[in-house]
Amino acid sequence: MSTIIAPNPYLPRIATIKEITVENEARDIKTFQIVLDEDHGGFDFSCGQFAMLSVQGVGESPIGIASSPLDRDFLEFTVKRYPTGLLTSALHDLEDGDSLRVRGPYGRPYPMEEMEGKNVVIVGGGFAVTTLRSTIKYLLDKSNRSRYGDITVIYGARNPGELIYKQELKRWEEMDGLAMHITVDRGDENWKGREGFVPAVLKEVAPSSENAFVLVCGPPIMLKFTMVPLRELGFGPDRIITSLERRMSCGVGKCGRCNVGQKYVCKDGPVFTYQEVQELAEGIF
Ligand SMILES: Cc1cc2nc3c(=O)[nH]c(=O)nc-3n(C[C@H](O)[C@H](O)[C@H](O)COP(=O)(O)OP(=O)(O)OC[C@H]3O[C@@H](n4cnc5c(N)ncnc54)[C@H](O)[C@@H]3O)c2cc1C
Ligand code: FES
Repeated sequence: MSTIIAPNPYLPRIATIKEITVENEARDIKTFQIVLDEDHGGFDFSCGQFAMLSVQGVGESPIGIASSPLDRDFLEFTVKRYPTGLLTSALHDLEDGDSLRVRGPYGRPYPMEEMEGKNVVIVGGGFAVTTLRSTIKYLLDKSNRSRYGDITVIYGARNPGELIYKQELKRWEEMDGLAMHITVDRGDENWKGREGFVPAVLKEVAPSSENAFVLVCGPPIMLKFTMVPLRELGFGPDRIITSLERRMSCGVGKCGRCNVGQKYVCKDGPVFTYQEVQELAEGIF
């Protein structure tokens, strides 16, 4: 009789860094493109999921997957370094060719199948747009584009130096079939684009809520003020999809570190509808 051994969800796989992109002027946000070492198998995931990244001897943290699930040859993670953050500082000290460990993917993804045939509005603020970038790349892929309706993106940062994915933003701005609205809270002498907070720009752009889903990620204060125009535009709480961040340890619903009310963000989330967020606990945002 043969015994089937379940894969160990805690087992990290080894990966090598292929490319590091510095995303912003402050140099505290970098995108790491990594490739799993040969005998470490594939890494199938869906938009909105995260992985646990670790540097040996330092620690481990959850990081959203920023590449598209259709990019089969590599994974990308965009990481902000916190001066006192052990893992993010260690990651930022790594160079091309160095190795790190990755386990996952974990968590509930965005409802990509439910969104088929619908218009998609994407609202992002700050550097919390990583999994939204994964989603935009997935939606824009030739193999997927006809399965979704109009795509509207509203993305804001505090100032031009804090905008990330600049090359891609430029490409997306020039693309047909994608309405891009980039804004900064305050421009500088070189900034010729839009100025204004994300909720105000959303109000001005006023994407239709008819047959549409909206995905929204950003700092809690942005989320709080973005919900008001979204509701005014007629987006129902079950059509507003967001992602929560909590401190995590196991990433698989076992340790209880990441609970909000009765739910574990690592397993039941990180993606939740606004309706679910409201039911979980009052005042999350
Ligand atoms: C599902 C999920 C997805 C995530 N995706 C990303 C991602 O794509 N990129 C990314 O950079 N991070 C992401 N995070 C956040 C990241 O996991 C945390 O910032 C993590 O704590 C960093 O680990 P660390 O060891 O460097 O810092 P820690 O040692 O855990 O923290 C050190 C100190 O840094 C500060 N700090 C840490 N995190 C935050 C924060 N979020 N806001 C403000 N101050 C903070 C605090 O002062 C903290 O005491 C995600 C978190 C979750 C739950
Ligand atoms: S991180 Fe352990 S239960 Fe969520």
